[in-house]
Amino acid sequence: MRTPIIAGNWKMYKTPAEAVAFVKELAPRLAGFDAAERVVCPPYVAIPGVAEALKGTPVKVGAQNVHWEKQGAFTGQVSAPMLQGLVEYCIIGHSEVRQYLGETDEMINNKAKALLAHGLKPIIAVGESLSQNEAGETEAFVGAQVQAAFTDIPVEALANIVVAYEPIWAIGTGKSASPEQANAIIKRAIRDVLADLYGQDAAQAMRIQYGGSVKPDNMLAFMSQPDIDGALVGGAALKVNDFVKLVELAVEAKGAR
Ligand code: 13P
Repeated sequence: MRTPIIAGNWKMYKTPAEAVAFVKELAPRLAGFDAAERVVCPPYVAIPGVAEALKGTPVKVGAQNVHWEKQGAFTGQVSAPMLQGLVEYCIIGHSEVRQYLGETDEMINNKAKALLAHGLKPIIAVGESLSQNEAGETEAFVGAQVQAAFTDIPVEALANIVVAYEPIWAIGTGKSASPEQANAIIKRAIRDVLADLYGQDAAQAMRIQYGGSVKPDNMLAFMSQPDIDGALVGGAALKVNDFVKLVELAVEAKGAR
């Protein structure tokens, strides 16, 4: 059985003080849902405070990006060794970073390798644009993103990687993919591609999230799909009640399996 993982990607929201106050309210309410992994990914500057506030709680911390080098003249960047001890997860390949900061498939692959080398777990985001979706290119495009992201990553590393399918047109728009559509892409463009690369057993064990306008009112439908193992959540993860509800629904949908 794959443990569901619900991760909140806070993007560029919440000051360090707001972040700490938020997780102090959130953590006690997320106790008792041990059938799901619960992760918050605050902005870099809030990570130390949040990590400290969450010590001894079941809520884990992730970063939203990382540089692939250990150190160097890279203004504004943060490396994997700098995140060690503070976070367990790190999102890479988010469409906003690909689009606004020019992150390429090669960079994402290098970031994945840097994270793994430092004992950190990548959450690798992939997803197509609206025009690619309308042109029927989704499967080929997402499959190629997956292949590129996993270049030279050995099968033993797979247990420490999560993939997130986030159609760009569904992010922050209130439009989500239909649960059936999302499951079909996750199955054909991600799990089957991983099966070709690593074999069926490894691919079946991989956790793959859906992301894009996930809210309490559509969560159960997504989590009821066989290939969707959790959610990467933006807007709804910024509200304590909504995030708690999402975790509750994930456990409801997957707990019994
Ligand atoms: P929304 O949930 O706000 O659509 O954001 C999704 C996302 O980009 C998570 O990484």
